[in-house]
Amino acid sequence: MIRRLAFLGAAAFAAACTLQEASDRADSVASVAQRGPARGYNPNTYQPPVVDSTPDDPFEASVYRGLALLTHTHDSLPAYDPSSLNCTSCHLDEGRRPNAAPLVGVFARYPKFMDRNGAVVPIEDRVNYCFTRSLAGSRLPSDSREMQDIVAYLSFISRGVPQGEHVRGEGFAPMPALTGDSARGRQVFVDNCARCHGNGGAGMGPIPALWGAASFSVGASMARQERAASFIRHNMPFDRPGLLTDGQAFDVAAYITSMSRPDSPGKEQDWPNGGAPADVPYQTRGHRAFRPPRVLPRTTNAAAALVPVPASVLKQK
Ligand code: HEC
Ligand code: HEC
Repeated sequence: MIRRLAFLGAAAFAAACTLQEASDRADSVASVAQRGPARGYNPNTYQPPVVDSTPDDPFEASVYRGLALLTHTHDSLPAYDPSSLNCTSCHLDEGRRPNAAPLVGVFARYPKFMDRNGAVVPIEDRVNYCFTRSLAGSRLPSDSREMQDIVAYLSFISRGVPQGEHVRGEGFAPMPALTGDSARGRQVFVDNCARCHGNGGAGMGPIPALWGAASFSVGASMARQERAASFIRHNMPFDRPGLLTDGQAFDVAAYITSMSRPDSPGKEQDWPNGGAPADVPYQTRGHRAFRPPRVLPRTTNAAAALVPVPASVLKQK
């Protein structure tokens, strides 16, 4: 199939230009292949382009709307985001901060196979995992203007990152193998977090909740102790990141992840081939729930919280 396409491509190419032009272009194509697509790309110095706040073409306007949706998700799309969180509550600095699951370069990483879903997923589905799990909300239709605006923003801040390449501080930083103590974590919370996130963890004003009905769901990566510990270790307290030790970060993460939060329907189907990480707080194939919190009923349509597995994957089974 691939060879056939290449042949058709070559035929069309030859028909479209003279022999001399064709040989010149073949040279330049060959030299790009030799020097490799990553030339000129350096993850340590790469800076994504700055979003123009006075867009002057339809694409820039879409990028700008996408950024606004990421920073004001709840206000803009309350039916899809019933929580107190916005996308940038976790993807800090407009998705630009290393070790806070940066969205920079994300376009170069999708479509991608995800163990959690046992499927190759397009970027729209990845966005919807965060809508339905991290925001405990509903799936945004892939063909909606809002989804395409979000995708436009993600593509814009990925400009210059070659397909398949990675960025600095992607995801959350790895952590040492520790297990937190939620009783100690409660004290860390009182001393370092309550002044912003509220004594009851329900958030205050624009500051998002850490647990309860307005928080992220049990199916979010942030509901895993080790993932939460990494985010907190590197990014919280918001005004003094790096203040906590690894041990304190695990303790406060153990406390937060032990508290009640919205359910995530269908979560038992995650990691369909087994291999769930040890700290996943619900049961999946071959995995026993790690310190499961109490789950609260969803405030949005539970059926819309399931992102269907692509039909092509189902057919292979
Ligand atoms: C509760 C925290 C949280 C919120 C809120 C959140 N996300 Fe995420 N998001 C994560 C985590 C954690 C990951 C996984 C990072 C990793 O790969 O380790 C992630 C991953 C992603 C990825 C894939 C990144 C990659 O490198 O593969 C995209 C795209 C994304 N989120 C978009 C969004 C969008 C859009 C929103 C708002 C609709 C959102 N997220 C809200 C925590 C959050
Ligand atoms: C100075 C205020 C402040 C302090 C102190 C603070 N945070 Fe935050 N935190 C924030 C803000 C603001 C955000 C959202 C970031 C944004 O919108 O840019 C946030 C986001 C978060 C998130 C991801 C979103 C969510 O609500 O789940 C977690 C988890 C978190 N903080 C945990 C903590 C922990 C644990 C502590 C204490 C060690 C802490 N924070 C201390 C202000 C603070």
